[in-house]
Amino acid sequence: MTATLSPDAEGIAEAARLLVAGELVAFPTETVYGLGGDARSDPAVAGIYEAKGRPSFNPLIVHLPDLAAVERIAEVGPKALVLAQAFWPGPLTLVLPLREGAGISPLVTAGLETVAVRVPAHPLAQRLLRAFGGPLAAPSANPSGRVSPTRAKHALEGLSGRIAAVLDGGACAVGLESTIVLADPEPVLLRPGGVPVEALEAVLGEAVGTGGDADKPTSPGQLVSHYAPEALLRLNAAEARAGEVLVGFGAVKGALTLSETGDLIEAAARLFQTLREADRMAGPRGRIAFAPVPEKGLGRAINDRLQRAAAPRT
Ligand code: TXA
Ligand code: MG
Repeated sequence: MTATLSPDAEGIAEAARLLVAGELVAFPTETVYGLGGDARSDPAVAGIYEAKGRPSFNPLIVHLPDLAAVERIAEVGPKALVLAQAFWPGPLTLVLPLREGAGISPLVTAGLETVAVRVPAHPLAQRLLRAFGGPLAAPSANPSGRVSPTRAKHALEGLSGRIAAVLDGGACAVGLESTIVLADPEPVLLRPGGVPVEALEAVLGEAVGTGGDADKPTSPGQLVSHYAPEALLRLNAAEARAGEVLVGFGAVKGALTLSETGDLIEAAARLFQTLREADRMAGPRGRIAFAPVPEKGLGRAINDRLQRAAAPRT
């Protein structure tokens, strides 16, 4: 039985108690719901992989309440510091050299000498991290390869019975996973996400490379088929073909829409929820078509997720 915990002092205290006991708890962040477990505990982290059915070469993000806590487990280089000060708390993950003796389970880093860390902005995530008092490993709270959860009920749909509890914080404001960056010595984007790459470049005053390689999944959604709904997807559709559920954007009207006004922030926040709805409407062996989304700002992250959702399944 998976408990649903309310977003109050009692719910947070219970979630923290479960985590201290080595259990798994899904919790809201501003990006998507995370499946949290104690990042120092091998059995807890193994439990995360088990609950998600996740290939174990895919390392996890460690969540901490502030930069000072990050500095205790990882080395924050000069460019990483600039990004941390500009975007934390918020939807940015930095890949940093792991400190010796940091106490992070090697299952979190999949044996790498680096660790991916993030300081989430969601007030419930902040309160939970402070109540728990340690690092939380938290991938998105969905079975591996499926659509990421932006509401407590999505986390329950995928993981009910496999985790102790979900802390219900309503809908996630950003709706897309964090941007993952390797900052030093030269900045490289590993996953587009909630912080647009243009914003990173503005703060760093230099270009951010794109070295992410889907064949070498050092980063997240770098597996090619990921975020997949049941239905088949067609992208850049100007109109629906027979039997398709069309998801519109801006001037392209559909049965559903990411944003009627063509607002990329709204579209990002609605993306995963809309994929779920379209999947339901399309039915078994159904087909979904998506209107084109401009390749700028959050549009890059939206298109990245759509391309993975549309990729041939393996
Ligand atoms: O918004 C988010 O980032 C959400 C919320 C819950 O915080 N979390 C999330 O975690 O998307 P996850 O585990 O689904 O994606 C983390 C990705 C992994 O796929 C992994 O490839 C990459 O981060 N990653 C983790 N550690 C890494 C490392 N040391 N080097 C490179 N990439 C790493
Ligand atoms: Mg994920």
